This record gives sequence, C-alpha cells and structure tokens, in this order.
Amino acid sequence: MNVLLGITGGIAAYKAPDLVRRLRERGADVQVVMTASAEEFVTATALQAVSGRQLRSNLWDKDAEAAMSHIELARWADVVLIAPATAEVMARIVSGGAPDLLTTICLATEAPIALAPAMNHVMWNNVATQTNREILEQRGIHILGPDVGSQACGETGAGRMLEPDRIAATVFSLTGGEGILLGRMVVVTAGPTREPIDPVRYLTNRSSGKMGFAIASAAAAAGADVILVSGPVSIAAPPRVELRHVETAEEMFAAVHEVIDAADIFVSAAAVADYRPAKCAAQKIKKNDESLSMDLVRCPDILASVARLQRAPFTVGFAAETQDLKQNARAKLENKGLDMIIANSVGADTVFDSDDNTVSVLWAGGEKDFPLATKQDLSRDLIELVAEHFYAVRSTSSQPKLTVISNND
Ligand code: C5P
Repeated sequence: MNVLLGITGGIAAYKAPDLVRRLRERGADVQVVMTASAEEFVTATALQAVSGRQLRSNLWDKDAEAAMSHIELARWADVVLIAPATAEVMARIVSGGAPDLLTTICLATEAPIALAPAMNHVMWNNVATQTNREILEQRGIHILGPDVGSQACGETGAGRMLEPDRIAATVFSLTGGEGILLGRMVVVTAGPTREPIDPVRYLTNRSSGKMGFAIASAAAAAGADVILVSGPVSIAAPPRVELRHVETAEEMFAAVHEVIDAADIFVSAAAVADYRPAKCAAQKIKKNDESLSMDLVRCPDILASVARLQRAPFTVGFAAETQDLKQNARAKLENKGLDMIIANSVGADTVFDSDDNTVSVLWAGGEKDFPLATKQDLSRDLIELVAEHFYAVRSTSSQPKLTVISNND
C-alpha cells in the first residue's frame, strides 16, 4: 500500500519518524511530504532515512517534479495521511487553497484522506477549527483523534496526536486492511481431524472448517503468504492460499511443524482430536459382544507446542466452550501461553457448520466482542485485530532499526 504522509508544523512532528517506521513495518511504501514549518520540528534527514525515499517539500523543485510530479504523487497514493495536522492545514484544505505541495496533492488526489490533528486544546476547541473539522468530515475526510491528555504546552485537554501505532492501524483499516500483512507468513489450521479405529471407522467431530478457511482467506487478502493445514473438509482452497491436507492430529502436528519456523503468525482454528484410539485395528472390528471398549490416548496439543517454541510466531488459539466462555478461554490463553484467543460459544447455533459466528477475542490485558456476522466478514475484522496486536508485540520486543546517516562536516 502506498501511503503519502504529509507532515505539518506541530510539535507532534517529532513522532513522525516512528509513524513512518510503523507504516513500513505493516508493509506500506511511505512517501513523506513536509511543509516548510514541519522542518522546524523534525529533520528531513531522519525522515529520508526511515522512509527510504527522497523527501518532498517544495512544489517548485524542478528536479523532484521531473522525477515524480505532484500529480503523479497524488495518483501514486493509496491513502493520503497528514500527521500531525495543524489547524492551519485543516483550514487550507477546507478552503481548497493549494499554496504548497501537500495541499496541492490533497486537491489532486482521489485517494482517501486522513488527518491526525495535533494542537493546543484551546485551538482544537476553537469554533473555527471545529467548523473546519465538521466540513472535512462531511466531505468524507477521516479525522483520526485527537487524544485527550497532557500537551507539549503544559496544559491538559483534547489535542494530542494519536499514538503512531494507532494511526498506522487505522490507516490500513481505511483501505479495507489491504496489504496489512504484506510480506508476512501466516499458518492456519482448520477442520476436524479423523482418528482411525479400524480400516472403515474413525473418531471425529462436527467441525466444518469454514472458520479456518475464512481466516486463511482473509489473511491472504491482507497480503500474507498463507499455508492452510486442514483436516478432511469439503471446501475448495481459497485464492492465494497453499492448502495442505491431513487426516489425523499427528499428521496435522507434523505438517504444522514442517513450516512453522518461517511463520510470523499461527492461527489454530482446527478442532483437533484430544484423544485417539491407542491402536488402529488392522481388520474391521466385528460386533461380537454386547459392548466394546477402546483405549484412547492423548493427541499432541499442536497449539501449545507452537506457543512453546523458542521463536514462537504470534500465536492465536480458538476456544469453543459450552459454558463459562470467557473464563475458560482466558484460562486457556494463559495455560497454553498464547498471544490471543478467539472464544466462541458452542450450542448457540452459531459454531459448527454455520455460515455465521459471534466471538469474543481475549489477550493479556484486554478483550473485544464481535457481534454476529458471516464468517467471511468476521475473519476480515479478526485478521485486522490480530495484525494490530502482532505489530504491537513486535515493536515492543525489538527496537527500531534506524539507519544513522552522519556527515563529518
Ligand atoms: O484445549 P482445547 O482443545 O480446548 O483448545 C482449543 C485450541 O487448541 C484450538 O485452537 C485448537 O485448534 C487447539 N488444539 C490443538 N491441538 C489439540 C487440541 C486443540 O492445536 N490436540
């Protein structure tokens, strides 16, 4: 996804390099366009280093215009994001004026425009700014935030720029999450497993595989490379998804571990058997006696085994429960050492074989409820949430790699 990031002259501009990094982590190409006053707050050198692209600021720069004109930039953008957006740039966009490169691009683009305002709370609450906000929103321009809190001027109120990670996540959702997982590898399991009893019989469950297939499809639509390991189901492979068929829990375990080292995210939607017959009879078992008993042994817990890996991917489990849904799901999240768990209630007519589902997603320190929706729509939202948390976890566990350009003058 191509993000044209406009930076205007507010103190929050010091967060712009971090914003560029977070957009790029999500797979975006970022072209920075600064106004003259933004250069008072953040250096062009830093932004050029983190964006990896030549910065643009001057409408009248003949060399830069020859390489990519303001009209080409306006066409190149999948989204135009201005962060921080000052009261001044809001007013200029409302008036339709185009005295500089950034506002010219805003006039010339057909891409969605999003502004993350940042200013003193009195300026934000001024009737002129609020009227401009209303007009911008009526025109379909997205206003992200601002946050309420302490401000650089020492006062407290509404006007802080949203944190870069929230801005980055929201910008991707404006374009339908497209490209949010570009360059990421996602492994998904789906469907039931079949545990053989004899050559003609097996133990299985009611899983249709619809949820796992919808998740795999949504991850692929978000740009990820997806491997879907599925038990026996009758659904065709979604576009751009590599489907690997397995039958038993042990085969699923082996298929997952064959590819998991390369995975960034693992979503375990399969209804894996917990127990399997201790041995599979070589011949069909005859009904000689009034009753028959069978020894069952535990199947490997694929999800827990992935979460325990030293370099575990971001690991998401499912919890299908008939009672105490959230309590049981949270216990599973903790006991299996997962990053996230998707809890759904069994028996509400909405889980096995249904086209719709309603779930609650839980993670350490938070949860979110998703209302009843088709498994396709729900999966799109789930993948967005998973991606948001995946990037948040990654950015707290690894420091940004900044290229430092030093010049020995
Ligand atoms: O412990 P429980 O089976 O309720 O946990 C459900 C979650 O664990 C699901 O994500 C399911 O895919 C996964 N699971 C697994 N291997 C098993 C059993 C469940 O990966 N043997």
